Amino acid sequence: MMRNYHIQNLQDYFKEYKKSIKNPKKFWDKIADENFVWYQRWSKVVDYNMEEANIKWFKNAKLNITKNSLDRHLSVRGDKTAIIWEPNDPKEEAQHISFNELYERVNKTANVLREMGVEKGDRVCIYLPMIPELAVTMLACAKLGAVHSVIFAGFSAAAVASRVNDCGAKMVITSDGSYRGNKVLDLKSIVDEALEKCETVEHVLVVKRTNNDVKMKEGRDYWMSEYYDKASTDFVTVIMDAEDPLFILYTSGSTGKPKGMLHTCAGYMVYTAYTFKNVFNYKENDIYWCTADIGWITGHSYILYGPLLNGATTVIFEGVPTYPDAGRFWEVIEKHKVTQFYTAPTAIRSLAKESVEWVQKHNLESLKVIGSVGEPINDEAWHWYNDNVGNKKCPIVDTWWQTETGGILISPIPFVTPTKPTYATLPLPGVQPVLMDDKRNEISGNQVTGNLCIRFPWPGIARTIWGDHQRYKETYFSAFPGKYFTGDGALRDEVGYYRITGRVDDVIIVSGHNLGTAPIEDSINEHPAVAESAIVGYPHDVKGNALYGFVILKESGEERNRENLAKEINQLISEQIGPIAKLDKIQFVSGLPKTRSGKIMRRILRKIAEGDFTNFGDTSTLLNPEVVDEIKNERI
Ligand code: WTA
Repeated sequence: MMRNYHIQNLQDYFKEYKKSIKNPKKFWDKIADENFVWYQRWSKVVDYNMEEANIKWFKNAKLNITKNSLDRHLSVRGDKTAIIWEPNDPKEEAQHISFNELYERVNKTANVLREMGVEKGDRVCIYLPMIPELAVTMLACAKLGAVHSVIFAGFSAAAVASRVNDCGAKMVITSDGSYRGNKVLDLKSIVDEALEKCETVEHVLVVKRTNNDVKMKEGRDYWMSEYYDKASTDFVTVIMDAEDPLFILYTSGSTGKPKGMLHTCAGYMVYTAYTFKNVFNYKENDIYWCTADIGWITGHSYILYGPLLNGATTVIFEGVPTYPDAGRFWEVIEKHKVTQFYTAPTAIRSLAKESVEWVQKHNLESLKVIGSVGEPINDEAWHWYNDNVGNKKCPIVDTWWQTETGGILISPIPFVTPTKPTYATLPLPGVQPVLMDDKRNEISGNQVTGNLCIRFPWPGIARTIWGDHQRYKETYFSAFPGKYFTGDGALRDEVGYYRITGRVDDVIIVSGHNLGTAPIEDSINEHPAVAESAIVGYPHDVKGNALYGFVILKESGEERNRENLAKEINQLISEQIGPIAKLDKIQFVSGLPKTRSGKIMRRILRKIAEGDFTNFGDTSTLLNPEVVDEIKNERI
């Protein structure tokens, strides 16, 4: 477990923060040195060139993250529960998996992977529901040096195929199906469909979960259990270099091509362990629960790696917040005596719509710290969470970070930083946020807003986009040279607290899921009746944002029934990306407001979608100003 760095009060925090900024090398050197097992120490703490987007931490160190997440705990807490698995159906029994057992399961699985030909450096895509095997296979990959790329099990076959192909995966691990509330999803057939378009996959391992009938392709598909049961419990950990890839995780971008963020071994390990310990005030014997899916970065860093690196007990929940009823989250907290609870504003907002009795029915006394992540938390949701879940006693850690950052960058430290509704508050030690104006000048002082950038690298920052370093550099390091650009806007208040105001690029966050407008538009445009489309977000009281599509039909499409067309468009989006990207509103238009250079003026579309018809700003550069009135008048 990480040492306690004695951030006991605000004064300590400021002291620690100053130290970390004055001498980041010394700061991280000490943390890395005191809290992990290394096969070999680093020759240099950090090497970086922000212009070229080249960043290396703990250069030449040798390690394995599983040695730190599992092996070293065995002698001190081998029998302690590492994972509490809470199944979708509350009538099915929860599993308590000890560190000893997890260690063994990881070894056996690593042996299965090796038997199937997976070697250090190979990519393995994991498309599994929230079952223990998801955690086990990720750790098995890490143990043998394979690069895991988890694909959220709500993505469609086309989305799976593009990710598998982008990283050139040698293996896919999936299950016969998954339970989500009262639904059973057939994951294997989605993989089958995806793999028709993938050349690199040699083997598919299938975990049994739902006993769905599945087709097994001879010579390609194998049941995990057949090999697992026979596998040895011994496995010699593969020694990794600090900068060897640990995993790839895809996130949305401004083009249809998936953006595979690459995280490497040492920096990610140090950063997730350090932030987990401090942001959640983690103490031995706490029971920690993060409700995210492991298919997103929050699950990677704060269900799996951060907690296990600290020897914590982490809850993995297979189900959904409303099954069998809207009390499920609170029931699970009571049942397992959860001490830290970490969820998303969209879940809070949807549960706040239900009767508060669902919460009050359960004893939530065990809770100590509650957290929020993924999107801005609005004032109302913050207070509902604080009053009803935290009972005004648990600090809310509103944690701001990204897939690209690996771990939390801005967050209150519980019991230290006074919280303020809707504010992520202060940067963690080692993190140097700056606000920039559109002319690339740094905005100094307080009570200002701007584009949120980070001045200095931290160990958890992604190193590149898999296979496309140029894109990495252009996306994150070119808008504000010498700085990492987050894509978010932020406000800094009178005392220096940060409040994230939302994306300033073409990513829209819907129910906490990042969705790029370009991939959605690409799939709409594939509809034979569609000529062109533009997507914007508009405020939604549960999802945060919902999607509004403006669609121009081809002449041939004009004859078609609009309602059917809208359904077909959403069907297409579901197939290409997944149901999460479906549009809430579709308006058929004769044109889109465009500048003379042919760029769609999304600003205007956003205002119309929001229902705000005042002040469209400067429209003098529009090629076709008349279309604005038409769109406005026919708004849905
Ligand atoms: C948004 C999730 C406001 C933000 C960890 C960021 C937030 C994007 C917060 C990254 C927060 C995340 N307050 N906005 N506490 N946390 N965001 O990659 O826009 O899925 O850039 O990582 O979510 O989403 P991602």
